[in-house]
Amino acid sequence: MTSTVTEIASDIYRISTYASDFGIQFNQFLIKDDEPFLMHTGFRKMFGATREAVATVLDPTRLRWIGFSHFESDECGALNEWLAAAPRAQAVCSFVGATVSVDDFAVRPARALADNEVFQTGRHRLRFLATPHVPHCWDAGLFFEETGRTLLCSDLFFQPGDPPALDTADIVGPARNAIVGGQSGPLAKDMPYTPYTDATLERLADLGPRTLATMHGASFSGDGSAALRALALVVREILGVPRS
Ligand SMILES: [Fe+2]
Ligand SMILES: [Fe+2]
Repeated sequence: MTSTVTEIASDIYRISTYASDFGIQFNQFLIKDDEPFLMHTGFRKMFGATREAVATVLDPTRLRWIGFSHFESDECGALNEWLAAAPRAQAVCSFVGATVSVDDFAVRPARALADNEVFQTGRHRLRFLATPHVPHCWDAGLFFEETGRTLLCSDLFFQPGDPPALDTADIVGPARNAIVGGQSGPLAKDMPYTPYTDATLERLADLGPRTLATMHGASFSGDGSAALRALALVVREILGVPRS
């Protein structure tokens, strides 16, 4: 298993591993800074490939923060391997995530973040947004890198296959096709539409992201607000939610 590394925004490195058994990419994002930050660990079986990829950018033992959206193995399965490899590393996730899952699973306690909490990694400032059930799971949250306006958006804009690192044209179309195509598969119904979904996606759009760092598929450089609002309409349409 090998990974490719691409700088998709200033100091933000996309580490992409294509898994042919799933037919999708698993992408981690490394922020190179005084206190390096890794968004998602990938599965435990991907740890070696991810560590090698991180080592092309910085010393993996320097890793300080390990963020992820929600407690699933592709998001944080290799957390304990990273905590062992990097002595100063600590998980950062939602209060719900830390309380319900991570502090029992992990060998060291997580830093539980409140909604809208901001922390600095050096030159870069990260804002945590609690986003329950977006993209899915009660504990879900997302990180917004405010310095360069990159939204680390986890499973939002999921696209299958092995696309290029960065799309500057359209990721809503491929994401829409993926949602439609996935409706009849064994992994259908991954994103619920709850009473909070609209407001959550609108709040993300209001951040004005210039880059959307996507966990599965191409990242997007362009008008992230428009893409998020378009995604909200797509999800409503496909799930049959009436327009308000
Ligand atoms: Fe997920
Ligand atoms: Fe995922």
